[in-house]
Amino acid sequence: MSINSKTQDLKKRMQIALQGGGEKAIEKQKATGKMTARERILSLLDEGSFHEYDLFVQHSGKDFDMDKKILPGDGVVTGTGTVSGYPVCIYAQDFTVAGGSLGYMHAQKICKIMDHAMKLKTPIIGINDSGGARIQEGVNALAGYGDIFYRNTMASGVIPQISVILGPCAGGAVYSPALTDFVFVVDKISNMFITGPDVIKTVLGEEISKEDLGGARVHAEISGNAHFFAESEQECFEQIKALFTYIPWNNGKKADAFAAKKPDVRNYKINSIFPSDPAKPYDIRNIIKSMSDGSEFLEIQELFAPNIVIGFARMNGDTVGFVANQPGAMAGVLDCNASDKAARFIRFCDAFNIPLVTLEDMPGYLPGIDQEHAGVIRHGAKILYAYSEATVPKVTVILRKAYGGGYIAMCSSHLKADFVFAWPTAEIAVMGPEGAANVVFRKEIKESENPDKTRKEKIEEYRKKFANPYVAASYGYVDAVIQPNETRQYILHALEVSKNKQVTNPQKKHGLPPF
Ligand code: HXC
Repeated sequence: MSINSKTQDLKKRMQIALQGGGEKAIEKQKATGKMTARERILSLLDEGSFHEYDLFVQHSGKDFDMDKKILPGDGVVTGTGTVSGYPVCIYAQDFTVAGGSLGYMHAQKICKIMDHAMKLKTPIIGINDSGGARIQEGVNALAGYGDIFYRNTMASGVIPQISVILGPCAGGAVYSPALTDFVFVVDKISNMFITGPDVIKTVLGEEISKEDLGGARVHAEISGNAHFFAESEQECFEQIKALFTYIPWNNGKKADAFAAKKPDVRNYKINSIFPSDPAKPYDIRNIIKSMSDGSEFLEIQELFAPNIVIGFARMNGDTVGFVANQPGAMAGVLDCNASDKAARFIRFCDAFNIPLVTLEDMPGYLPGIDQEHAGVIRHGAKILYAYSEATVPKVTVILRKAYGGGYIAMCSSHLKADFVFAWPTAEIAVMGPEGAANVVFRKEIKESENPDKTRKEKIEEYRKKFANPYVAASYGYVDAVIQPNETRQYILHALEVSKNKQVTNPQKKHGLPPF
């Protein structure tokens, strides 16, 4: 064979392989509003940057006539490329080939690109669109999942791991995304569940649609399994690109620095955002924007546990992770979901060298039978653990309420915040004046000739004595009581002087966070 005919032969082989499941299957895929695996990769990666590997890998199934079937690329596309200039390793399951089902070789392709990502120290992006374990391959398919989960776990905290759910992701397959750092879902396209509607109907007699059981909105709002929700695949890719500008390639690097920008102080004036009535809610995201570069803020898990806000912003060009109580949702109280949401984010920032800025305004942990029975003790402890363990620079600003366990949990100086600032409006105490007066002065109030008047007096007495920042400041628990409009400047200075911070936690195999 001449070189010419060999190159022609390669072209022909590639053409066949690149067709995936063929025209009919591609049409079916498009009819459901989905892109093909390669279209997705090309839309997400920088133009011309994608290099595909293992195009000619074949499945190893032998049973149920599988040995007679050709599955191009074994239903998954893998390769390397760049996203906004950042190198990445990527895979996308090809639903047009046997429903993107995961057989042994399909899994080995994923494992190989994950191993590359670990060696090259680049983020890994996995696009999921699959009917799950390839039924004809039996235990070999299950083995493939195990191999992936193991790698997800080993890569955790070393390289950022991104999961994009663009189709079904069912059964045990959901556990790879669950082990990764950021899960992206798209409305009416993503589905994630351990057992689908049919099984639920058979076992429990309950009827529910796929969408209501595990659609994008469910995971973005209720289960908290998803971090980013988009209306379309294209919007989802834009979200991923935006995220990449804030995070480093791996745990040995810092996120890229950008040119510093001033906040948009005309639209984000603290005086007009922050109410003078301490009982009034406000949107903490506007406070974040009043101090972030260009008033930009990339919120994560926006729809889940809205009583706490997490996300990335830049200050003086550098990435910062914000964790902030949201007085505009349930008064910003800490509950099981808020604790889980914040703790995981804190650990991501700590693993990837991103300083943490905490904004505090909350009445404490949420009381109630539901919360106690749901394990608010165990979940709430996750924030304590995550903040205590974090060694990145930690700056806390107390805006208003800092009551009880919440005061400690929201990165207090006791959990080794490097700097704690308080606004003059801060109220730092064991509990709110109303609750405190009712407990401490119960006897006096009850025995008083005018209990209502006495209660009011005692509430006022408690408020004056404790509901301020000065008692905490007198013990050095607060480093400085500052004017609200000085906050950005104080945070910038704190981050600047913390640049060479070095703290080493005690040597151990690993800690035992309250999972
Ligand atoms: C083999 C599969 C497959 C699978 C789909 N296909 N899922 N082949 N193993 N798991 C094939 C179909 O046979 C079909 O092949 C093609 O993919 C497209 O599937 P359709 O059913 O035509 O597509 P659609 O109507 O869109 O339905 C998609 C689906 C459905 C909802 C995902 O296919 C489905 O319910 N599949 C089975 C899901 C499942 O039970 N998976 C196992 C989960 S358990 P042809 O040749 O007809 O085009 C699991 C355990 C993992 O994953 C444990 C890890 C620890």
